[in-house]
Amino acid sequence: MEKQQNVIDKIPQDILFQVLDNPYESMIIVDQDGRILFISKSYEDFIPIPHEEAVGKHLTDVIPNGQLHTVIETGRAKIGATFTVSGQPRVIARIPLKKDGKTIGAYGKLMFWHADKVGELYQRINALRGKIQLFKDTLNAIYKSNYGFDNIIGNSPLIKHAKELALQSALADSPVLITGESGTGKEMYAHSIHRASKRRDKPFVSVNCSSIPKDLVESELFGYEPGTFTGALRKGKIGKFELAETGTIFLDEIGDMPLNMQVKLMRVLQEKEIEKLGGKPRKVDFRLIAATNRDLEQMMEDNTFRHDLYYRLNVVNIRLPPLRVMKDDLPMLVNHFIKEIRQVMPKDVSSISDEAMEIITKHSWPGNIRELRNMLEGAMIRCKGAQINVEHLPPGLGKPACVKLSDTTSGYTLREQMENAEKAIIREALEKAGQNRTKAAKMLGIHRTGLYQKMKKYNLAG
Ligand SMILES: Nc1ncnc2c1ncn2[C@@H]1O[C@H](COP(=O)(O)OP(=O)(O)O)[C@@H](O)[C@H]1O
Ligand SMILES: [Mg+2]
Repeated sequence: MEKQQNVIDKIPQDILFQVLDNPYESMIIVDQDGRILFISKSYEDFIPIPHEEAVGKHLTDVIPNGQLHTVIETGRAKIGATFTVSGQPRVIARIPLKKDGKTIGAYGKLMFWHADKVGELYQRINALRGKIQLFKDTLNAIYKSNYGFDNIIGNSPLIKHAKELALQSALADSPVLITGESGTGKEMYAHSIHRASKRRDKPFVSVNCSSIPKDLVESELFGYEPGTFTGALRKGKIGKFELAETGTIFLDEIGDMPLNMQVKLMRVLQEKEIEKLGGKPRKVDFRLIAATNRDLEQMMEDNTFRHDLYYRLNVVNIRLPPLRVMKDDLPMLVNHFIKEIRQVMPKDVSSISDEAMEIITKHSWPGNIRELRNMLEGAMIRCKGAQINVEHLPPGLGKPACVKLSDTTSGYTLREQMENAEKAIIREALEKAGQNRTKAAKMLGIHRTGLYQKMKKYNLAG
């Protein structure tokens, strides 16, 4: 310190003066009371009085919105803040001056004297900010929830309980696991939970784990940095966790997540940190909802689902009942769907005959509410009048899954009848196999991919 002092002492005064006062520096020095000791000439453009008259006055008498004296109170430097001078934003540095540990004054300077340049930069940043907001809004509009609890129909005790639990969990921010057979409304519940949560205005990003090829799961979920791969993928990819940032990520069919990815997912949940391929770990804020129609407990026993992940996900478990145990809700659901489908179908169908309702009640609905809705959609297409009657229902409905020839007036072709039978058989096999597709395919003597294709065709997947 002393040595430095000696060096400075040897600098000729006129040189020191130029350092303090030149056209490229705008500097103010104040004492511990905030009174101006020095103000460089170039500051004159920004203050209403000649610069020599400013000396001795309090900073705020000369620059009413000046903040320099605040660093005297805090004793801490403030570098790079913006400050508006003559209506122009400037980047400033405010530095406290100390002696024996005590603040005895402060000096401040405009770091980018070329106001135009800062202004330009500021405008560009502002324009970019606007653009980013636009993209965020667009993303939020694309990744949004499509359902709320109001859309979930049903009054039976099990549904009531599930809805209540879902609503409670929406208010918390912990993971939720939704289990239930295919078509019981798992996805609807996930959407509704997000919509009722504090994250409702943020993205809701849905990922179907069963539809992503095994080796692509990681890049789908976490993305990769530009330059990680060659060719078409060079530009990099945004992962689903990144898209869901501040919002909710819904991992549907979590039981189909490959084991190696289960390990990675576990880490993400624990650390709340994701690692893009080719990138560095980064904290992300998200809420997780997972769903599956698989028996995860059985999968843990078979060592195909990790225990630690299960317990992590299973903080709240919403179990959705199959339609066959909520038959009291059938009339309500049927009427709801007739109304809903009518909105998108130019038909005047508004009711259903008692006989048709009876058949619907007798059916076991292995495909659950989704099957009910699809069936009604088909019936409404066939229906020419205002009421759905028995002849509009698919043959075999309400009967065990064996083939029965429909009468010729039903309007079903041979192909349709065969397809109905095939669908029923596949469904039964899946049910017997506990939704394990490999097992079901074996039972049916077909290849796994063949089964997938048929499930897709008949809307049994998901
Ligand atoms: N409780 C419900 N009320 C009204 N519609 C329902 C209900 N549950 C399911 N659905 C209907 O069934 C369809 C399938 O539901 P989804 O949430 O995709 O089931 P899952 O994910 O369990 O297979 C939905 O699109 C919706 O039309
Ligand atoms: Mg689903």
